[in-house]
Order: sequence, then C-alpha cells, then structure tokens
Amino acid sequence: MYQERDGLTSASKCDCLKEGRAAEVESSSGIPPLYRQSSFENFNLPKDNPIANRALASVLLTVRSYARDFPNTDKRGILLVGDPGTGKTHLAVAALRSLIAKGFEGLFFDYKTLLDRIRTSYDPTSGQPDKEVYRSVLDAEVLLLDDLGAHRISDWVEDTVTSIITHRCNQQKPLIATTNLPDADFGSNMIEKSAIGVQTKRGLSEAIGSRAHSRLFEMCRVVRMPQAPDYRKGIR
Ligand SMILES: Nc1ncnc2c1ncn2[C@@H]1O[C@H](COP(=O)(O)OP(=O)(O)OP(=O)(O)O)[C@@H](O)[C@H]1O
Ligand SMILES: [Mg+2]
Repeated sequence: MYQERDGLTSASKCDCLKEGRAAEVESSSGIPPLYRQSSFENFNLPKDNPIANRALASVLLTVRSYARDFPNTDKRGILLVGDPGTGKTHLAVAALRSLIAKGFEGLFFDYKTLLDRIRTSYDPTSGQPDKEVYRSVLDAEVLLLDDLGAHRISDWVEDTVTSIITHRCNQQKPLIATTNLPDADFGSNMIEKSAIGVQTKRGLSEAIGSRAHSRLFEMCRVVRMPQAPDYRKGIR
C-alpha cells in the first residue's frame, strides 16, 4: 500500500497482508483445536458471585494488559497457576493469539507431548527424526508451554527442561506457561494430610528442578487463578 505524507510517497504493509501472515502463523502455531477460538472476549466471568467475578476479572485484566503492552512489559513472560479447569490454558492461548495478531511468531506446546517428542527424536530405533522440535522451542519468538511439570521427573527431563528455560531466559525470549502444581513461592499450602500421615505435596520445583524453577520466576510474572469450580464440569 502506498501512503502520501508530507509530499513523500512511501510503501507500507497493508493490514490485509499483516492479517494474512498472522493467520498463517496461527494455523502453524500448534494451538490444539479445542483452544483455537479461545480469546479474552469469550472468557466468561461468573455472574452470580460478585467476589468470584471480581477475582477472575482481575486475572483477565492482568493477562489482557500483558498481551496489550507486550513487549513493553516488566517481565517478558507470564506464568498462570491454579487448579484444573480454572481457565489457565484458555487465557494463555488468548494471550498467544493476540501476540500472533500483533505480528509475533507464537508456538504452543503441551509440556508432556514436547518432552515425549524430544525423547523420540533421540531414539535411533524410532524412525521418527524430530530434532527440529527441540530447536523450534529454543528459538520460537514466543513459546507457550502448557501444563508445566506434568511429566515424571528424571535426570533427562530435568536436564531438558533446564536447557530450554535457560536458553530462553539468556536470550530474553518470552515464555507463557501454565501449571496446576502447587509451589511454596506462590504461597500454596504444601502440606497434605492423608491416612498414612502428613506429607509434603509434589510441587513445581520438584517437577522441573530447582534451576529451571529459579529462571522461570526471573522470566515470568506469576498470575494465580482464583479458586473456582472446574469449568469443564459446567458447575459455574
Ligand atoms: N471463564 C471461562 N470462560 C469460558 N470458557 C472457559 C472459562 N474457563 C475455562 N473455560 C473453558 O473450559 C475448558 C477448561 O479450561 P482450561 O483448559 O483453560 O483449564 P485449565 O485451567 O488449563 O485446566 P488444567 O489445569 O486441567 O489444564 C476449556 O474448554 C476452556 O475454554
Ligand atoms: Mg490447561
């Protein structure tokens, strides 16, 4: 598109080209079908409970402001924490989609699927070379890692997640992440009482290792979802 300004004619990308490019990025971003339409606009607030409404509205505003202000945010990334079915992945995808609409390249990965795919790529008998997956999560302009910590820990898992997070932290590449694991640093109650006595719950630090955990806090603003019934169960 050509524009006239102060007697000079200049060329700029027209909005339809930008939109076409964003649509292409979004369709190859790996966002699962269930969340392809997730947006801030279709994130509902509870109508019958003013306290719950205010708490969720405040979370929505925080994540929306992060996406609006990006990349001029105090922390480049955001970590959504809370119970299952409280809308973490919905909001994380809404943020990713709005960054894609702004022209950033976004990539979605479920944590467990990612680790399984990287592991397969190292297995010479698998016949499925997938080395690009590892490279793509290191280099993606914006990475969404969903369900962080949802994989049994082993030295290999700890090393892999530490490498990914360290690389992105050093390169100041943003990470959007979600987790439903408790963590003393989010103020979660880590004590669990059961028939066999009092135990400490498995937390995020244990699930991803202390080095990745430390960097995560350096890179991300932590947003806690308010306690709410599981949206999937349709109680709200
Ligand atoms: N406030 C909301 N408004 C509209 N849809 C919602 C809302 N909260 C959750 N949902 C929908 O409910 C389903 C479950 O939400 P989501 O997957 O975001 O939960 P989650 O917190 O990521 O859970 P988990 O910890 O199990 O991954 C999704 O289909 C999501 O779009
Ligand atoms: Mg989720």
